[in-house]
Amino acid sequence: MGHFITLATCVLNQWALDFQGNYERILESIKQAKAAGARYRLGPELEITGYGCNDHFYEGDTYLHSWEVLAKLLVADVCQNMLIDVGMPVAHKNVKYNCRVIFLNKKVLLIRPKMFLANDGNYREMRWFASWQKYRTVEDFYLPRIISEVTGQHTIPFGDGVISARENRVLRGAFHAGQALDGVEIFTNSSGSHHEFRKLDTRIDLIRGATRKSGGIYLYANQQGCDGERVYYDGCGLIVMNGDILAQGTQFSLRDVEVVTATMDIEEVRSKRGDQPSRMTQASAAPAYPRIFADIALTYDAFKDGFDLPPTQTRAPFYHTPEEEIRYGPACWLWDYLRRSKSGGFFLPLSGGLDSCCTAIIVFSMCDLVCKAAKNGERHVIADARRVAGEPADSTYVPEDPKEFCGRIFHTCYMGTENSSKDTRARAKHLAEWIGSCHVDINMDSIVSAFLAVFQIATGKVPRYKVHGGTETENLALQNIQARSRMVLAYMFAQLLLWIRGRTGALLVLGSANVDETLRGYFTKYDCSSADVNPIGGISKIDLRKFVKYSKTNLGLEILQEFLDAMPTAELEPITKDYVQGDEVDMKMTYEELSIYGTLRKVAKCGPFGMFSKLIHQWRGIFSPTEIAQKVKLFFFYYSINRHKTTILPPSYHMSPYSPDDNRFDLRPFLYNSSWTWQFRRIDEGAAALNKLSEQKKE
Ligand SMILES: *[C@@H]1O[C@H](CO)[C@@H](O)[C@H](O)[C@H]1NC(C)=O
Ligand SMILES: *[C@@H]1O[C@H](CO)[C@@H](O)[C@H](O)[C@H]1NC(C)=O
Ligand SMILES: *[C@@H]1O[C@H](CO)[C@@H](O)[C@H](O)[C@H]1NC(C)=O
Repeated sequence: MGHFITLATCVLNQWALDFQGNYERILESIKQAKAAGARYRLGPELEITGYGCNDHFYEGDTYLHSWEVLAKLLVADVCQNMLIDVGMPVAHKNVKYNCRVIFLNKKVLLIRPKMFLANDGNYREMRWFASWQKYRTVEDFYLPRIISEVTGQHTIPFGDGVISARENRVLRGAFHAGQALDGVEIFTNSSGSHHEFRKLDTRIDLIRGATRKSGGIYLYANQQGCDGERVYYDGCGLIVMNGDILAQGTQFSLRDVEVVTATMDIEEVRSKRGDQPSRMTQASAAPAYPRIFADIALTYDAFKDGFDLPPTQTRAPFYHTPEEEIRYGPACWLWDYLRRSKSGGFFLPLSGGLDSCCTAIIVFSMCDLVCKAAKNGERHVIADARRVAGEPADSTYVPEDPKEFCGRIFHTCYMGTENSSKDTRARAKHLAEWIGSCHVDINMDSIVSAFLAVFQIATGKVPRYKVHGGTETENLALQNIQARSRMVLAYMFAQLLLWIRGRTGALLVLGSANVDETLRGYFTKYDCSSADVNPIGGISKIDLRKFVKYSKTNLGLEILQEFLDAMPTAELEPITKDYVQGDEVDMKMTYEELSIYGTLRKVAKCGPFGMFSKLIHQWRGIFSPTEIAQKVKLFFFYYSINRHKTTILPPSYHMSPYSPDDNRFDLRPFLYNSSWTWQFRRIDEGAAALNKLSEQKKE
């Protein structure tokens, strides 16, 4: 046979509205695809504008500049003799669509609007676009003048059509069994999908499953990186044939352009489909899709053209461990944020606790990735690293040692009081030494006493800690003054530390509130949880602990054992002989429980009564119905009185499906009646009924 075909799918680190940069990355990917021998190139969703433009999709400019970029691509030399498929928004009859534009040799062949829009979780495509509802229908689209001038065309087909290259090799977007029946052999999925913790296998299974039964080739393209939002697009360009993976790109990488190619014998698709008589009968009855001819041979005859490109071997899918996902995902996202915001590095308040320790490890991991990329000769990473590190453009500096690079861009600070323990102070210092950050150790007692003095002058009163006989209110207020002063200090240091080192610019302040604390509202509003960005805001405490364990061995940070052994504490109350403030005691619930509540609330969509009903089964034999009722009510009480705090949290890397990321992922009110009278009564009635039932059984 020998009907070989080489196809390319791309993963691009696009940036919302950076039309110039996006254009250059698209062009580079086409160049690489061509060099690899591909005759068809697929790019990610909305690659010309960047996926995350959000309400900029309302603006006419966004559409105008997309056409302008397309016009440049149409005439580029490297784009000739190749079937090219790019993503951009297109308005047709005043209706906006999320489209693929497919072109060949200075002619636009087809504009294909998306038919099923993503509109859940982080996605809101229906806010800006309509979905195309006319199945198997194309209509005339009138090209704008800048395109007509290049292509000489005035109208082209717009709608649910398929592309048919020479020898009837048929291509179309998004897998659909009906199209497989209609003879479509190559399916394309141009996506803008973000990293979801422990979820890659779901995506890969879906893609493999699509062609396993009905045969076919499936190309998956995606963006990669932070394009200006909380999510991290996680690449993983894929090429699958008949359910087998031929090529899989990286999930986490600092590269701007990654092209994934594979060469296959397309006869295998026909052969897979050819021996199923019932399928053939179904297919002969299947309605036809409008076909648009592309005058290009996608396949080559190996006997005539030579076997230059041997067929790609199938391979097993590759998955990172959850610990690696934490190590790489937020690190890549931080790098994009750092270089794209043109900051000179990061500032992190290190408390000596586990959370800020994790943020520090992630920054260290980022430095490690930068050094590895530099070692691979990735030029734009080196150029960005030079700029971030404050080197002039003509410098020859190349980051080689993560610790050394950390010392240039990462500043940590322990902000203690007279009541901070020696242990936390020492842990922070040791960690800084291990990772090489520029560390400052300060005492802020004078600031706290200055606040108290002002208060005393104004009111004549001095609040006392609970351990000294003060009320709950005094106790909280005293803790909050310390916590909030830290935030003010953090921003001051972040602004001035580079000046001290004779450099320009400022540092980005990093926060370290984990997802469980956020959910429970266990933090002081506008304390160090307020920052520029928070890399761990989507990660649960349980996973953070596992990550620290992993990093101890895998990043060679022996020091981390000290953090694992320490009890989580905010250290805002004085330590006495028989009282040390502990997080889980303070919160009145464990981190383990918080993960369960969080998942039930958001993922399983439970209200208080629903959660109670679920936990009755989940915790059977562990807690009595009365205890479960107490726990659920306690959680909803704290959740509801603290929900207002989530409204001011800094952007964090979106990772957890139970993230309470306010107003974007988790849309809720911030003012609740926290007595939940109706709901809690139902819980109490439920618990009472269960107790009665079990007593009857005993009798
Ligand atoms: C394309 O891939 C995404 C995953 O990124 C998946 O959710 C979606 O269902 C796929 N589309 C089709 C039509 O297969
Ligand atoms: C530290 O503890 C001492 C003794 O318990 C107390 O008097 C003082 O107010 C505390 N200082 C701060 C800053 O909390
Ligand atoms: C909350 O609702 C209850 C009735 O369900 C009511 O008695 C109570 O006053 C409300 N709380 C506030 C603060 O209004």
